Amino acid sequence: MLVLGFESSCDETGVALYDSERGLIAHALHTQMAMHAEYGGVVPELASRDHIRRAIPLAQECLKSGGKTLADVDAIAYTEGPGLGGALLVGASVANALAFGLGIPVVAVHHLEGHLLSPMLADPAPAFPFVALLVSGGHTQLMAVRAIGDYQTLGETLDDAAGEAFDKTAKLLGLPYPGGPLLSKLAESGDPLRFTLPRPMLHSGDLDMSFSGLKTAVLTLVRKIEREAGGIDEQTRADICRAFQEAIVDVLLHKSLGALKRSGLKRLVVAGGVGANTQLRAALDRAAARHRFEVFYPPLSLCTDNGAMIALAGCHRLAHAHPAGSYSVKPRWDLS
Ligand code: KG4
Ligand code: ZN
Repeated sequence: MLVLGFESSCDETGVALYDSERGLIAHALHTQMAMHAEYGGVVPELASRDHIRRAIPLAQECLKSGGKTLADVDAIAYTEGPGLGGALLVGASVANALAFGLGIPVVAVHHLEGHLLSPMLADPAPAFPFVALLVSGGHTQLMAVRAIGDYQTLGETLDDAAGEAFDKTAKLLGLPYPGGPLLSKLAESGDPLRFTLPRPMLHSGDLDMSFSGLKTAVLTLVRKIEREAGGIDEQTRADICRAFQEAIVDVLLHKSLGALKRSGLKRLVVAGGVGANTQLRAALDRAAARHRFEVFYPPLSLCTDNGAMIALAGCHRLAHAHPAGSYSVKPRWDLS
């Protein structure tokens, strides 16, 4: 079964071909980051228009690089939500029109389910059941995943998502959009011992998290340094980035260990954009060796939004596919 998947929930247009037997055949991606950079964030209307421009050429590119034609495709998958309404509508329209024209099934996919299953695109792939740490720009959740569709939320952020905290903190440190990866890069040359920032809800006794206070703590620290030193030099900025990253990684590590303990599961799967963070990966790898659990990540290039995870999730979902004909998008949509 060959599935063509479309992702268009935010600022990445992704198209991929996934084969139920052979795995990922091809994927093509266009990121709109540069287009949104001058506005300091994603402009929904510009995002929708760019998805319209990119979707079909990317599908053609993907089919060509996979050595396939539309006639080989057995089903189409698309991101139904959550995400930006207009952007989602582009993927939904293209996917449904193609499926209707080809007379093949179309399957709507939850964006977070795509992220959740994305480590299955790696080799070795995790087997069920596992705990998933989902850390993206819009969501931060710990889930017990027992099978496709069997998802239980164990804990989640009560305010900002981890990626959002990275991006907002980067912005207040004067880093250009999108700040998360840049902040993380700067943190590499930062001194981990110079500043200590709070670890919100570390000992809350549950698996919930909170990251908005951390951003405020950085703001308070920045103002104090500016008052005392008249500005912030490059090394100080890197040291603050390091302290921020240490705090976030510490909370994510602690809560992940708590989720493994409570669920009794021995596998941890990390998904979403923040899963690309090298310090987080190193901390989880060390903990896995010490506490004897397995940890799985998607390939680095598939941590952030992409079509491959949607084609994969669509392939698994096909047993429950709705017939083509009418379609919807769900800008707000809980996974469990
Ligand atoms: O999963 P994703 O592509 O989009 C959502 O579905 O939200 O995640 C994007 C988020 C952004 O907030 C970005 O700053 C963050 O992932 N991110 C990182 C890194 N790479 C991407 N955060 C920390 N370290 C990174 N290396
Ligand atoms: Zn995402």
